[in-house]
Amino acid sequence: MNGGVKPATGKADPRLSGRAVKRVAFDEATIARRVSELGKEITAAYPDGDLLVLGLLKGSFIFLSDLVRQITRPLQVDFLVAASYGDGTVSSGTVRLVYDPETELEGTNIILVEDIVDSGRTLNRLMTILKERRPRSLEICALLHKRIAEGLKYDTKFVGFDAPNEFLVGYGLDHAENFRHLPYIASLQ
Ligand code: PRP
Repeated sequence: MNGGVKPATGKADPRLSGRAVKRVAFDEATIARRVSELGKEITAAYPDGDLLVLGLLKGSFIFLSDLVRQITRPLQVDFLVAASYGDGTVSSGTVRLVYDPETELEGTNIILVEDIVDSGRTLNRLMTILKERRPRSLEICALLHKRIAEGLKYDTKFVGFDAPNEFLVGYGLDHAENFRHLPYIASLQ
């Protein structure tokens, strides 16, 4: 029985409602190592001043909670809620802002935290919205980047991993709201 660390391919994981893992793209230990490195990179990149870590919900909730505990300097946390995918597996291209951060953004150093950059539409839209709030600086931190977003207008300064162009679930990423709680990132059969 796997303890949630790295299930063998094809082996049943009770969290998967009968689905089987096709491939574990990133296991729990690999993610933890990289998140720790990202925390150090971010800590070094912001030697002083304020810092607002702004998580895009829902997908970033696990990544963000692990990441902020690896950033060893003062910071604040807030969230944005947008929606783009719906229940399917293909990006619809529409982004809807459902929750606006309550924290003052003007004059603030902001890191926008994403679980995955896919088509880049979400980031293009959100970065435009955030820039209008006149932050002092605005950078993106994404755990996964598929590197297929041809129209992406913004550089992702902090990237965890280049991701395969597969439909991935786990560690915050969902399929129709399921599987976000997997401690690893996988594609399913
Ligand atoms: C997913 C994912 C990213 C975005 C990436 O969010 O979490 O935010 O899509 O796709 P893109 O680069 O093609 O825009 P989703 O809208 O599914 O919401 P969620 O975070 O609640 O899962």
